[in-house]
Order: sequence, then structure tokens, then C-alpha cells
Amino acid sequence: MSTAAPAHILLLPGDGIGPEVVAETTKIIDWFSKNRGKTFTTSSALVGGSAYDETGNPLPPETLEAAHKADAILLGAVGGTKWESLDYSVRPERGLLGLRKELQLFANLRPAICFPALAKASTLKPEVVAGLDIMIIRELTGDIYFGTPRGVETLPDGTRRGINTMVYTTPEVHRIARVAFDLAGKRNGRVCSVDKANVLESTEMWREEVQKIGDTEYPNIALSHMYVDNAAMQLVRNPRQFDVMVTGNIFGDILSDCAAMLTGSLGMLPSASLGAKDANGKIPALYEPVHGSAPDIAGKGVANPIATILSFAMMLRYSFGRGACADLLETAVTEVLESGIRTADIVEEGSRKVGTAEMGAAIIARLQALAAQDQSLKTGS
Ligand code: IPM
Ligand code: MG
Repeated sequence: MSTAAPAHILLLPGDGIGPEVVAETTKIIDWFSKNRGKTFTTSSALVGGSAYDETGNPLPPETLEAAHKADAILLGAVGGTKWESLDYSVRPERGLLGLRKELQLFANLRPAICFPALAKASTLKPEVVAGLDIMIIRELTGDIYFGTPRGVETLPDGTRRGINTMVYTTPEVHRIARVAFDLAGKRNGRVCSVDKANVLESTEMWREEVQKIGDTEYPNIALSHMYVDNAAMQLVRNPRQFDVMVTGNIFGDILSDCAAMLTGSLGMLPSASLGAKDANGKIPALYEPVHGSAPDIAGKGVANPIATILSFAMMLRYSFGRGACADLLETAVTEVLESGIRTADIVEEGSRKVGTAEMGAAIIARLQALAAQDQSLKTGS
């Protein structure tokens, strides 16, 4: 029942649990391809430590070329203890950072949603996190991650000096601010911009420029500012005060892990990394779970695939304009959690512990049931 042009998804399973969680998500992609009127084709390429092992490069040129061609990219995870002693230039993380930079994926969307069924799985009290729905927007191609000068030098007296540079330009701040304001307009109309303007000049500039865009282009969005240390505290004190949070690369890295824990498990959090529209109207986009490669549980079939599956839901919504399909997938995940099926990271008393593949199968079974219901509603039977 394909009615729309096929789309091509590049799979980058990567390292650790990446291949396992991507494999489950591929089954979900196939389900949508067969049942929802749009064909998705997929191909795989190497990235991260596994790419380094095979080619000596964590981001081989073939992978980059395939990434440029794909309609969207789904990445598992990169990194692992095995590669920790490698030079920075060939570390698995460089594969991911290289993709972000090469495709100019400057806007990283990290929603933190606490599913009602998981309110008890968070280390915070259920009354603090139940119903949580915030969106962290992290700038992804600038800041101390990419700023120069960088490196470690040995001084004449033999001591060493390590340098990284926190840097932003006004166009970089403006474009990420607009992403935040636009999204807030579709949500609850509030943006909190996070910085360290009391100490760091570059972030004081960030604050002023975000304010400027707010005042001139988005007068109907309520903009507030917060220092990053306070923001970390407020996230665990009263996270529901936030709607959209926008911040730079390094603060966003830290705050989004913190926000992830509010939802019960790092295994639940999807993300989208988006670039600017090109001349053909295409927006480069990479979707990935926020969790890492978890080498300690890799290959055991116990990892939670939900963050990757929900990343595909984000892909349906942001890359393919298929909001209804995304809703369907999110509903299927919600209902599976409500039925008490849990992977090890979110298991609780009275729930049924399952592995990666069983979780994937349970979600497909829910999709199937929801689609059948939908059909019977349509046909009146
Ligand atoms: C993330 C990760 C990455 C980052 C690593 C793997 C390079 O922590 O996506 O949050 O620091 O951005
Ligand atoms: Mg991180």
C-alpha cells in the first residue's frame, strides 16, 4: 500500500549495544514500510570504533558519502573502553562528531518525557517527574567541542598545558535560538535559555543575542534565562517548570543526561540532530538514542531498544512529516510499558523483565493491534 515516494534511511549501528538496538528498530521500520503507506529502504555503514577496527578511520569516506545521500540517518552508539587509549583524532567519538560537523547538524532536540508507567522507575519521587514533558535544544556544532585553539602542549619547564576554547558567533546563536522559539510556539510557548553569563563572556553574548531574537521575532514567546548551575539544580528540584530549554553544546551535553534520568532511564531518551534546509529543500537529519554504547551489557541481548525506537518516531515526525505514524509508535511504546513489559533498566516489582528482542516484538505486536483497531474503526466493523 505504498502511496508516497520511498525514502532511504542510512543505519549506523556503531559500537557496543548500538547494533542490538538498531536491529530492533529496523524491524519497526519494516513494519511501517509494509503497513503505513510509505516505503523505507535501508542500508548500513560503519562508524565509530567498529569502523576504526575495520578501516583505521572512525568515519570512513564511504560512510560520509552515504550520510550525505540518505534522507535520514539512524545511529546506534559509538565508543567503548576498548578504544579509550587511541589518539583523539581516531577515537570512535570523532566519527559521531565528524558527522555532526560535516552535515552541519546544529540543532539537537532532546525531549525528556516521563511515561506515566515509569514515574516510579526514576530515582526522583514520582510526584516530581510524573507527566514531565520538556524539550532540551542543544547547539551541536560549536562551542568548546569544536573551538580552537585546542590540544595539550608541553611547556619549556616540562609541565603540560591543556587548552579548549569556548566560542560562539552571533549567526550560530541566532539559528539555534530560532529553532527553540519555533518549537516553543508549537508547545507551551516558553523558552529558558541556559548560560553562564556571570562568568563567561561568550555565554553573556549568547544571552544577549537570544534575547534580541526573542524581542524582535518572537514577542509572544515567554523567554527566561538561567545560569547552568542553577538549571542543573532546578532540573532535579522541579523539572516541570520548563517547556523548552535552549543551550550551548557542552551545557546541553550535561543537562540532557541529567534530564534523561528524570524519565526513569537513559534507555528511554531519543534525539534528533537537524541541519539547515538545503537548496533542494532537504534537511540533513540524524536520529540517535541519548544513551551511549554501554559496553558492559553489549552483546547480551538485554539493552533497552526504546530510545532508538523513539528516535525513529522522531524521524517519522521531523524528516517525513508523518506525525500520525509517530503518534502511533509512541502510543504502542506507552501501552507496552503500561502492560508491565520492561527491560532490565526499567524493571520494577510486578513487571515482566524481557530482553532487547522481546521488547521489540512486544512493540510490533502493539502496533499490529492498534492498526487493526484503527482499521475496524474505519470500516465500522
Ligand atoms: C552525546 C554524547 C557525545 C557528546 C559523545 C559520544 C561524543 O555524550 O551525544 O551526548 O558528547 O556529544
Ligand atoms: Mg552526552
